[in-house]
Amino acid sequence: MCGIVAYIGYREACPIIIKGLRRLEYRGYDSAGVALLNGDLNVYKKKGKVAELETFIKEKDTHANVGMGHTRWATHGEPNDTNAHPHYSTSERIAIIHNGIIENYAALKQHLQHQGHVFQSDTDTEVFVNLIEEIQRQNHCTLEEAVRLALHEVVGAYAIVVLSRDEPNQLIAARKGSPMVIGIGKDEFFIASDATPIIEYTNEVVYVNDYEIAIIRDGKLDIRSKEDVHQTPYIQKLEMELDSIEKGGYEHFMLKEIFEQPRSILDSMRGRLELVAGHLNMGGIRAYERKFMNADRIIIVACGTSWHAGLVAEYLLEDLARIPVEVEYASEFRYRNPVITERDIVIAISQSGETADTLAAIELAKSKGATIFGICNVVGSSIARATDAGAYTHAGPEIGVASTKAFTAQVTVLTILAMIVGHKRGTLSDTRLQELMVELGSIPAKVEKALLLNDEIELIAETFKDVPNFLYLGRGYNFPVALEGALKLKEISYIHAEGYPAAEMKHGPIALIDENMPVVVIATKDSSYEKVVSNIQEVKARKGRIIAVVTEGDQVIPQMAEFVIEVPATSEVLVPLVSVIPLQLLSYHIAVLRGCNVDQPRNLAKSVTVE
Ligand code: G6P
Repeated sequence: MCGIVAYIGYREACPIIIKGLRRLEYRGYDSAGVALLNGDLNVYKKKGKVAELETFIKEKDTHANVGMGHTRWATHGEPNDTNAHPHYSTSERIAIIHNGIIENYAALKQHLQHQGHVFQSDTDTEVFVNLIEEIQRQNHCTLEEAVRLALHEVVGAYAIVVLSRDEPNQLIAARKGSPMVIGIGKDEFFIASDATPIIEYTNEVVYVNDYEIAIIRDGKLDIRSKEDVHQTPYIQKLEMELDSIEKGGYEHFMLKEIFEQPRSILDSMRGRLELVAGHLNMGGIRAYERKFMNADRIIIVACGTSWHAGLVAEYLLEDLARIPVEVEYASEFRYRNPVITERDIVIAISQSGETADTLAAIELAKSKGATIFGICNVVGSSIARATDAGAYTHAGPEIGVASTKAFTAQVTVLTILAMIVGHKRGTLSDTRLQELMVELGSIPAKVEKALLLNDEIELIAETFKDVPNFLYLGRGYNFPVALEGALKLKEISYIHAEGYPAAEMKHGPIALIDENMPVVVIATKDSSYEKVVSNIQEVKARKGRIIAVVTEGDQVIPQMAEFVIEVPATSEVLVPLVSVIPLQLLSYHIAVLRGCNVDQPRNLAKSVTVE
């Protein structure tokens, strides 16, 4: 995590950097800082959000055309002014910003202390900048050379930008394992963790690859390998719209993104669901169709909300395509010794495309010969580039830390994938395929309708905003939805919540139920409806407070539940796309009523690039 941004050109660097940091704040927000190069190399940094840094620098001299900034999610060292980036070297002639982790920092630090370097912070990053300084001192070399040599000594992940007072008009950047994109303007360059700080200045970008060093000097960009070989930059055009990264009148990004779902689901189907022609397309699987046809097994790797989308996909792929599926937490999978063969397909799901554990799980599966299929939202992200093939979700930038529209887009893409593979394998008949296609086509309108529940849900949120615990129950396709509902609530409102398979409740959580316990039951009309009704009775018998998400027109559950939320009817396999909507809204309203920072919940970050 952590966000980095840098500028070199003819404009004032500081306002561009601050605005960029605001855009990247979703990546971490426990402290922020800037370094500005203008004869002097000045570093200003502050604990807290970017807004606090802005206040802090109001009275300072921030005039400079070269500079860089950082917004932090702490790994080494608590969030405070000293541990905030940028970090100076001991002589204060060099400064660095860093997203990532240096694993061998302790040994390097000891060595550097012997050489006389003095450390102010507890961070691994300060070791990096002193290493560069030490190399430069010993070798009497340029900053570029010293950075290159330093990269051979550090172990870990990094996206860094380095400035030196002795070499003004120059930015040196490098990456391994953490994202970095360079924006190319006219006589100006931008560097950032993602394209959002860049988009309003230029749409020409270069995604820096692992082990590459970018040197921007005298108005030119030179990209070189760690071995000092010139690399030809591949300039791409950004397709992102500026509007998509602004709040557009909503109080929070999360609410905007919840309400964008009819559109983002439609975008994730665009060109894939062709109702008139009566067929489905997915460019990414075309070349791998045979692999999918003959796959022994599909392993899904992901983290967080993306893992929940993976769980929905398990139901979909087993149901529609009859392929055995395992859904794995990437962080567990990669540290086991999993059995993977060349006949396995690994599907990696990631909104950001940068989650370190998911990336590492991909590398592991690749080394065993599996075919890797990626489902990512961020175009050009590390995971999208590390996979053999894939499909973008096209949900547009998701900025709220709690994932909403990315989840429904992932589920939509996975549904289309399961339908295509099932049809090709002959496990999904033509008739059933056509029925499901029509139903899928109606989902955006049904989500739109579910969003009309917003005011009703706000009232329910009023009732429950002060409770300490919540239980979420669902069966079948609604079990992953229960997990996702509980995750949303705990992420942004800090209320403890657990998601459980409704029947499994009897094996433990039922002991928690009393007259104070709210239990959200997702009880839409599907094959397990009757069983869920029984589970509701079990909760009611113990005086639990039931909030039920039901299919429109349900006559039975309203008689048992304290609150009923009616969502439009749809096919059982598509139900998560609709039933998750009220749960997103419920967590949103509870968090707002509790005064929580919905878009930037404590301790979390949107893109988890540490392991
Ligand atoms: C973080 C985010 C979650 C996200 C998870 C996986 O924990 O806060 O919202 O679901 O990472 O991220 P990914 O980008 O791989 O989907």
